Amino acid sequence: MDILVTGGAGYIGSHVVKQLLESSNYTITIIDNLSTGSLKTIQTLEGIKSDENSMKFIKADLSNFAQIEEIFKTNSFQAIIHFAASIIVPESVTNPLKYYLNNTTNTINLINLAIKYGVSKFIFSSTAAVYGNPEEIPVREDSPTCPINPYGMSKLMSENVLKDTARAYKGFKYVILRYFNVAGADIKNRIGQCFPNATHLIKVAAETAVGKRDKLYIFGDDYPTFDGTCIRDYIHVDDLSDAHLMALEYLEDHDSDVFNCGYGYGYSVKQVIETMRKVSGVNFPVEVVGRREGDAACLVANSDKIKTLMGWQPKYNQLELICQTALNWEKKLLSSY
Ligand code: UD1
Repeated sequence: MDILVTGGAGYIGSHVVKQLLESSNYTITIIDNLSTGSLKTIQTLEGIKSDENSMKFIKADLSNFAQIEEIFKTNSFQAIIHFAASIIVPESVTNPLKYYLNNTTNTINLINLAIKYGVSKFIFSSTAAVYGNPEEIPVREDSPTCPINPYGMSKLMSENVLKDTARAYKGFKYVILRYFNVAGADIKNRIGQCFPNATHLIKVAAETAVGKRDKLYIFGDDYPTFDGTCIRDYIHVDDLSDAHLMALEYLEDHDSDVFNCGYGYGYSVKQVIETMRKVSGVNFPVEVVGRREGDAACLVANSDKIKTLMGWQPKYNQLELICQTALNWEKKLLSSY
């Protein structure tokens, strides 16, 4: 199968490419503008590739519509896995147009090209942020979508474009994967999150544990949760990657659909900090500061649907293991990357 992977040099994209390369019979074209992805990751992926697969990398920005169309003209894709996006919630609040342009406009262009060049499968990286502050926890796929930040809204708009397009063009199908909080790194510690100014809690905690940061700031301890800090459903990046490969297969004989990707249990910010302190053996300092704009109090997935319909089964659903792999990767970045 010929697959276009946007954002394949980035954190989640590279883990999915890794799994495709370890499987068989994929011809993979990665496009990435390297704004947060890394060339070193692409080189590592080259080394992982089995003989049955091929991979090429094109440096391109999705906003360059002419260059992107040229890639469609000169290739013949059966599927697109679309990761490339801006993903920082507070930034989306202060710079919403960056999110609507990069996440929504560029996705619409990609969908348009998929239709124009006959690509039949589209796997879309969406987010739990589409639910906003859900009334019912764990949140189901058919729960109301009501984003509380432009990041979530930019993704929800793209979801809607996909749904309308698939309704109108019968040869086009999608799987929307709504990611909860993706964390950790490759179990074999070959790739991980490289971007230096990371904002995600487990990455930040790992950086603090290895001494890259002086302390970790807790953004608010006055939420209506058991310990006052926000609760999230942390999913290991390799389990999430599995879901993408299964989604490609699923579309062979199923219709388009939307799936939550999470484990179904939540941990508070304080619990994550304690777990990282435990696995690292470092009692790093923390300080409680004010709330961060755009944060929901509690987001936990109901993941029955993906388990039942796709047969997805998590392998790494332990917070300690997630923190350990994030820490291993952070140590590798310190020493050799
Ligand atoms: C958000 C989205 C999620 C998306 C992800 C992509 C929401 C609700 N969730 O995750 O769907 O996949 O972005 O990037 O919009 N925290 C601290 N200190 C820190 C860092 C984080 O206290 O240094 C807290 C945050 O306030 C939050 C929790 O930890 O309560 C998790 O934050 P983070 O890891 O940044 O992810 P989300 O914002 O939940």
